[in-house]
Parts: sequence; C-alpha cells; structure tokens
Amino acid sequence: MTVRYRGTYTVKPETATWVGHLPLSELDQIGTITHVPNIYIFRPPPEWLHPVDAIFGTLRGSLSRVLVPFYPLAGRLRWLDGGRLRLDCNAMGVWFIEAESDGELNDLGDFCPRPEFEQIVPSVDYTMPIHELPPLLVQVTKFKCGGLALSASISHAVADGPSAAHFMTEWARLARGEPLGIEPYYDRKVLWVGEDPTGPLLPPPNLEHSEFDHPPLLIGHTSDLEQRKKKTTMVMLKLTKTQVETLKNAANKDRAGHHPRPYTRYETMSAHIWRCACKARKHKPEQPTTLCICVDARSRLRPSLKPGYFGNATFDVAAAGTSGELASSPLGCTSSKIREAIETVTHDHVRSAIEHIRRQPDLTMFQDLHALGSTQGLFYGNPNLGVVSWLTLLVYGLDFGWGREIHMGPGNHDFDGDCLVLPSLEEEGGLVVAVGLKIAHMEDFKKFFYEDIVD
Ligand code: COA
Repeated sequence: MTVRYRGTYTVKPETATWVGHLPLSELDQIGTITHVPNIYIFRPPPEWLHPVDAIFGTLRGSLSRVLVPFYPLAGRLRWLDGGRLRLDCNAMGVWFIEAESDGELNDLGDFCPRPEFEQIVPSVDYTMPIHELPPLLVQVTKFKCGGLALSASISHAVADGPSAAHFMTEWARLARGEPLGIEPYYDRKVLWVGEDPTGPLLPPPNLEHSEFDHPPLLIGHTSDLEQRKKKTTMVMLKLTKTQVETLKNAANKDRAGHHPRPYTRYETMSAHIWRCACKARKHKPEQPTTLCICVDARSRLRPSLKPGYFGNATFDVAAAGTSGELASSPLGCTSSKIREAIETVTHDHVRSAIEHIRRQPDLTMFQDLHALGSTQGLFYGNPNLGVVSWLTLLVYGLDFGWGREIHMGPGNHDFDGDCLVLPSLEEEGGLVVAVGLKIAHMEDFKKFFYEDIVD
C-alpha cells in the first residue's frame, strides 16, 4: 500500500478566540501526556467521492468552525520547570494532512493497528520542541476503493478519552450543519486549580497514594529497560454476546457477600485479560503484577462535573496480586480486586491525590513521554497491564454527512500490556478487546483468551 501526501494544512479557528494561558490541572500532566491516535473508517456513498475535494473541504471547514469553541486544541503546550506543562491558547492551529492511497480498505484486514497504519495515522515527532507541536493532528486518507480513513491524534495533556470523544462528536455535528450539542468548558477550579494562592491552604494529602508507586518489575530484574525495548504486536479479539455472558456468569458465580452488585462486563473482561496475560507471559507464581485501571472521576466528584468539562478528569488506579494467585483462584476473585481498586476513586481520594501530585518537585517520573528507551517515565509493560474501558464513551456513530463509521479503534500498535475494551459494532452485547503484547507472548495469550471462557 502506497500513500501519497497531498498536503499538510494548518487549520485555525474560524473566528477570534480567547488568548491566554489556560492552567492545566495535575491530572492533565500525569500519565499519558503524549498524543493518542484513534482511527475512524468510512465508506462514503458515490456522491461524496467526486470531486475528491468535497470531503477534504467539508472536514477542513468544519474543523475550523469547531476549533472556535474547542480553542485549546489550536493552542500550544509549553514546558515549565519540574516537568510541568502550561497550555498557551494562541490559535496557532492544528495540522490537517490530506493523503490518498493506492490501496483498498480490504488491505487493512480487520483494522487492527499494524505497521502500515503509520502511513495513515499522523506521526508526532517528540524531538521537536513541544511548543511547536499542535495538540491535535488529523490525517484523512482516501483509498482507491472510495473508502476513507480519518485519524485524529489528540494530546492527552489537553483532552482525556471522554473529552476527545466529545470533541469528535461536536466536529461531526458542525460538519452536518447542526449546532453545537454540549458546550465545552474549561474552568479548572472544579479540579482545584488556579485557586487564590493567598486564600486558605488546601488540606494536605490525607490518604495513601500507592497508585503513584513504580509498578513491580519482573522477578530477578533491577530495571525494566530490557522489557521496554522488546517488540510488540496488537490484536483485536472479538467476543460474542454469549461469550461475554459466559464470562460474566463465571465471575459472578461465587461472588463474595461483600460485593452485592454483580461484576460488570469491564470488571469481568479486565480480570480475564489480566489472568491470560500472566499465563502467556509465563510468570513465576510469586511474580507481583498490577493492573492499571483508568477511572473517569467526573461522576465521582462532589458535585459531579457538569457535562462538557474539557481536559483530564480521569484517574489511574492499580489492582495488585501475584500471577500464581490470579491464575489459581476463580475469575471472580480477580474481578473483586478490580472492583475494590475502582471503589477507591472517591471525591476525597481524587482531591488528596491531586494535592499529592502538586507537592511533587518533578512530574517526569509520572509521565509516559519519557519512557521510550529509558528507565525514566511511566511504563506498564510486563509484568503489568493496563485495561482501558471505552464501553461507556461516545466513540461510535460519528457522521460527518456521509454516514457513520464502519470501524473505530486505536491507531497505534506498539505498547506491551496496553488493552482496550470496546463495544462490538457487529453484534449488540458483543465486545472487541484490543490487546498489545510482546510478539513472543501473543499466540499463547490468544489461546488462553478463548479457551478459558468456561462457566
Ligand atoms: N452503556 C451501557 N451500560 C451502561 C452505561 C452505558 N452508557 N452506563 C451504565 N451502564 C450500566 C451497565 O449495566 C454496566 O454494566 P455491564 O457492563 O455489566 O452491562 C454498568 O452500568 C457499568 O457501570 P460503570 O460504572 O461504567 O462500571 P464498569 O465496571 O463498566 O467500568 C470504569 C468501570 C472505572 C472503567 C468506569 O466507571 C469508567 O470510569 N469508565 C470510563 C473510562 C474512560 O474514561 N476511558 C477513557 C480513558 S482516556
């Protein structure tokens, strides 16, 4: 498959937008702060295919309009001392890449991220100064068969998953000629940022914050550098509604009395993925392992954040165990660990965690950006894992005027232990699980993943 780049355009907000420094919250500056690429695949009807510029023009015009309310995406990040970041809202604009491929959508198989995706997903060069990189890069690639791939790479320091999904939904609404649905808002005071420094001091962190501890290493290793260098691959594994129900029944069969609410699909699936990964990675039974869970705190704060909060209000927590314990105990025991980790994310916990991060002199160790080829920075590879839920995010139904997507999924493919649970587009109640693992572990993982679905 060859991709020809027609051009890269800088798209700016259509009309003047607020200029100034938007303070970032502590949650914006920890965890993933790099760009997260997602891909949407469309099969537009024939009337949209000629002239080819109709699609590109519609997308560029509506992008310029949607950047008026979503002006932080057209700004630039800037490093401050101590690995901290600031967002300059300066309307510098986003990058919009137009491309054409001589290939067919069928060449992309099940749309699982693979090395060829590098041609259709905008790459971000982090050797460039961060203040020269836009928080949003879009690439639109038109295929010979008339199919279309739209990839948006959004800086996680500017928008978390729910905010990114909100932006994409509003962009599509404006492209269809509809008014904005939910206005974004940027008042960081709801996360205790920018409070009057002469005002009363915030209470010091009063809870334990083991979620910020370095995750465990493989037994016998003193660093994770070797693990960080190993080659990875990604698969998208489909589960039917029946398979999902079988797993849920298995997890809930012997539910301990202190969890009256049944384990959810996420708590069941992430437990299953964690157990299969431990087995595929052939850990020693006493190997400590953690599962990182991304929790949306919007509805857990008091009061809840109003719809439209744009930034990061997600918070990572970890469930912990040993591989032997996970493999030998019933699935529900693992789901129980996950439930207990999620339940720690209360209003008081988030507030205390933010205060904990605020008191750190250097945030570098808490950020993914510094992980590449280094022992610095956040890393959740072997023996650990992260499972992100997109089950309740508005990720599907994106219609820019030529019909909704036929596929939506992650655009990158190179992280060990990076997993995503998505609803199936093919079967109501089914799921798709995107799993990134070391090449050496993937075949065994797939075997356990399907074989271990038993009631
Ligand atoms: N669609 C379907 N079911 C819904 C629903 C929705 N929009 N909203 C609530 N439900 C119901 C369902 O019964 C579901 O149970 P089921 O999956 O077994 O059918 C249950 O509520 C799910 O409740 P939830 O509170 O979402 O728990 P969970 O165990 O599925 O997920 C978290 C736990 C922590 C992952 C979840 O609370 C969360 O924070 N998700 C957002 C993650 C996120 O932000 N991802 C992007 C990261 S950048």
